[in-house]
Amino acid sequence: MKIYRYFLDGMPWYLAKHYWWAYLWPSAVWFFDHQPVINAILFFQYHKLMQTTLNCFQTTPNGRVLQLTCVYGCLTPKLNEILGKQALHLTDVAEVQLHLARSKSQTLTLRPTRMNAEQLGYKNNVFHTVVLFFLLHEMPHEARVRTLSECMRVLAPGGSLLITEYAPQPVRHWLYRLPFCRWILTSLEPFLDSLWHEDIEALLNESANPFDKRVEVISQHHIFFSFYSVTEYRVIDGSIERFDDL
Ligand SMILES: C[S@@+](CC[C@H](N)C(=O)[O-])C[C@H]1O[C@@H](n2cnc3c(N)ncnc32)[C@H](O)[C@@H]1O
Repeated sequence: MKIYRYFLDGMPWYLAKHYWWAYLWPSAVWFFDHQPVINAILFFQYHKLMQTTLNCFQTTPNGRVLQLTCVYGCLTPKLNEILGKQALHLTDVAEVQLHLARSKSQTLTLRPTRMNAEQLGYKNNVFHTVVLFFLLHEMPHEARVRTLSECMRVLAPGGSLLITEYAPQPVRHWLYRLPFCRWILTSLEPFLDSLWHEDIEALLNESANPFDKRVEVISQHHIFFSFYSVTEYRVIDGSIERFDDL
């Protein structure tokens, strides 16, 4: 019997099939939401990753903010804290995750909504900052493309997309070079290898094009000898460039 089928119930297939044990099973949700556990999963880089993300977040454009999908640990309460009275929109497809986020940020400024990141119910150009924290490596290529396209659609020109993720193929890193470590990692994270080979900036520009937008890298921070990175992409009105080109 395939246990994951029990968790399908409106979830994207890849989430139910490969990550039910991490994000959908209530006992696992309780287990993983402990700092030592998350820290160990991220090779003890959690605090650095979170702090760098928060530092970048402090300077992203003010306005409407979306955290696209829940995360374990205290990122959401910290974002809430930085925003003060301003709302933090939080979208995830799993009710159990939204419930956990609500229990950690008991403030009316948290606006949790249940949606699939691949097809958001928000209007175009409504957000000024979107935060993605370790989402893309858990998606197959097609879902990743649809999610990035949705980010480009909902972000207004002048807005920022902040992505904290595995960096491109870390060929020099010991975790990559040791076949056993690489095998463990890619077995637990079946879409990581495809993310390692993905050109995110090119994908964003392709997705932004139909909305007359493009992106530029504003800052990039390498963490854990470039195994991870925190990148801020600024969304630019694509028609301005075309006008300049004339
Ligand atoms: C952000 S990712 C990984 C975060 C990171 N491993 C951590 O917790 O520190 C996990 C979240 O993404 C959500 N998720 C995955 N695919 C999704 C999709 N297509 N739409 C919305 N939420 C999704 C899962 O429900 C889960 O809450």
